[in-house]
Amino acid sequence: MTGPAGLAGRTAIVTGASRGIGLGAAEALAAAGANVVLTSRSTKSAEAAAESVNAAASPGAGTAVGFGAHAVDEEAARACVDFTLGRFGSIDVLVNNAGTNPAYGPLVDVDHARFAKTFDVNVWAPLLWTGLAVRAWMGEHGGSVVNTASIGGMSAEPNLGVYNATKAALIHLTKQQAIELSPKVRVNAVAPGVVRTRLAEALWREHEDTFNASLPLGRIGEPRDIGDAIAFLASASASWITGETLVIDGGALLGVAVSPESERRREASAGV
Ligand SMILES: NC(=O)c1ccc[n+]([C@@H]2O[C@H](COP(=O)([O-])OP(=O)(O)OC[C@H]3O[C@@H](n4cnc5c(N)ncnc54)[C@H](OP(=O)(O)O)[C@@H]3O)[C@@H](O)[C@H]2O)c1
Repeated sequence: MTGPAGLAGRTAIVTGASRGIGLGAAEALAAAGANVVLTSRSTKSAEAAAESVNAAASPGAGTAVGFGAHAVDEEAARACVDFTLGRFGSIDVLVNNAGTNPAYGPLVDVDHARFAKTFDVNVWAPLLWTGLAVRAWMGEHGGSVVNTASIGGMSAEPNLGVYNATKAALIHLTKQQAIELSPKVRVNAVAPGVVRTRLAEALWREHEDTFNASLPLGRIGEPRDIGDAIAFLASASASWITGETLVIDGGALLGVAVSPESERRREASAGV
């Protein structure tokens, strides 16, 4: 068993966990000893992802199981909560990770259907699942919620206006929920930069080298970079942290990377 403290024998639900960041979170939580229910819209994909977590497990790891549930389907969410309690007896951790971005493009062109879908999956679903988990278990027994936001929720950029607005809303709702649910339930968020997943493919697939060179830490994020941070925030190691959004972005928000070219320019301007 490896990872942050206090997760052994606990139970976590991770929405949108059949691949990408959600799968990275499920791997990190299971490695730290938590049982994990992985959701996705497809039962088959969720179960396959759970199998991959179990296949990679070392001694002391928790058990992973898959569950098919569209994140905004209230009946499916309720069924998943009931299933988790029946199977493992508690819901100590909820990771609201499922996200979508069908509204890429200028704000003047967005239609209501894509706007509403983005807000439904990225903002409403975290509220829905948190409400269900709190009423079913966490409100009485305590727990920890981690929302997957984005550094996009902290800045403005072309073509990502609707998506970024959902993530800004999620960062605010994280603080709001942290106040409303204290002291029993902690609520935090992660704000990833660009991570090597299907959702973000357009941002890195064609020009990964250039992208890597633009970052202070020199590489794109991997799902487990975010998964490990999620497990930390969910764990007892973070027991005095609530309402926070942890940026995990390879230094992207810091600005210009330290590249050989920028070093040459710095040395030239310093006269060395
Ligand atoms: N990748 C990045 O660079 C990046 C950066 C910042 C934030 N994020 C955020 O990180 C989260 C995960 O994204 P990702 O990059 O890991 O994407 P991804 O690789 O495309 O994975 C998305 C996961 O969510 C599931 N999913 C999608 N829509 C769903 C829905 N309506 N209900 C339930 N499950 C659903 C997918 O499975 P099915 O298709 O089988 O349903 C899949 O398991 C999102 O909230 C995203 O906004 C990503």
